[in-house]
Amino acid sequence: MNFHHISVMPQETVSGLVTNRDGIYVDCTLGGAGHSHLIADMLSEKGRLIGIDQDESAIAAATERLQDCHCQVSIVQNNFRNLEQVLQEQSAQQVDGVLFDLGVSSHQLDTAERGFSYMQDAPLDMRMDQQARLSAYDVVNSYDEAELNRIFKEYGEERWSKRIAQFIVEARKNAPVETTGELVDIIKKAVPAAVRNAKGGHPAKRIFQAIRIEVNDELGILENAFRTAVAHLKPGGRIAIITFHSLEDRIAKNVLREMAKGCICPPELPICTCGHKPEIKLLVKGTTASKEELEHNSRSKSAKLRIAEKL
Ligand SMILES: C[S@@+](CC[C@H](N)C(=O)[O-])C[C@H]1O[C@@H](n2cnc3c(N)ncnc32)[C@H](O)[C@@H]1O
Repeated sequence: MNFHHISVMPQETVSGLVTNRDGIYVDCTLGGAGHSHLIADMLSEKGRLIGIDQDESAIAAATERLQDCHCQVSIVQNNFRNLEQVLQEQSAQQVDGVLFDLGVSSHQLDTAERGFSYMQDAPLDMRMDQQARLSAYDVVNSYDEAELNRIFKEYGEERWSKRIAQFIVEARKNAPVETTGELVDIIKKAVPAAVRNAKGGHPAKRIFQAIRIEVNDELGILENAFRTAVAHLKPGGRIAIITFHSLEDRIAKNVLREMAKGCICPPELPICTCGHKPEIKLLVKGTTASKEELEHNSRSKSAKLRIAEKL
C-alpha cells in the first residue's frame, strides 16, 4: 500500500519517549507507523507496542508496516478519546510511554477524495474516521451563520470569519455547497482581493483548518486524553506530544504545566493548604524541528514537541 507520510522529529521523539526496552508503549496516532516502527525497533521481544488510529486506511498501512517487528504489536482502530477503554481492553493499565502526533497525515491530505485539501477538488468530507456521522458537508450546509462565524474565528483564527460565513449562507440558498472547490471559490469571493493577494498563504487555509477541527472534534478531546495518558504511566514513564498549530499546542502546554505544578494555592496565602503534588516533570518544552529536517519535510515547520516524565 502506498502511504506517504514523513514522520516529524522522529529521532527526538522516540529517543525521548522510550526508556525501557521491555516496556509497553502506546502510539495514539499511528498513521503510517513511522514513529511506531522506530519505537518497535528499540523494544525487545518482551516489549509491546499498542497502536491506535481512527482512520481505516492508516490502520491498514500500519498493519502492513509493523508486520516484521519482533516486539509484541497490537493495532486498534479507535479514537484516542477512548484511551481509557482501549487500555482496559488491552490489559495495559500501566504503560511506559504514550505518544500523540496530532492532526492529519500527509496521506489523508493527499488523498483528494477525503476532502481535506483546498488544493484539490473533491466532495466536502474531512472525516478522519470514515464512519463518523458529521462531515464537512454537514458543517458547511447546516450550521447557521453565527456558528460558522464562531468556528472560523475560534478554530481558524480567521479575521474575515463573519464575511466568509455570510457568503457561505448566501451561496447555499441556491444549492448546497458540494465540493472543496466550490467552498474555495466562495472564500475567495468573500476575502477582499487586496488581502488575498498579500502574503499569508492560501485564503482557504484557515477555514479548512477550522472545519476539520470541528468535524473531528480535534481540540475538545485533547485535555482528557492527555490526563488519561499520564494517569496510566508508570513512575518514570513518559508522554510525548507533537502539535502543529497554536490552538492544540496551547492545550498541550497548559495541561502539562498544570500537572507539573506543585502547590496551586493563591499566591497571597502564607502557607500551602491545597496539598497539590506535581504528577510529572517537564523534560522537553516545545522544541522545534532542526534546519536539516525543515529542508526535507515542510510539514515539520509548525511542529512543536513536548515530553514529560511521570513522577
Ligand atoms: C500526523 S498523523 C501520525 C503519523 C505517524 N506518527 C507517523 O509517523 O506515521 C496523525 C494520525 O492520527 C490520527 N488521529 C488524529 N486524531 C485522532 C484521534 N482522536 N483518535 C485516533 N486517531 C487520530 C489520524 O487519523 C492520523 O492517521
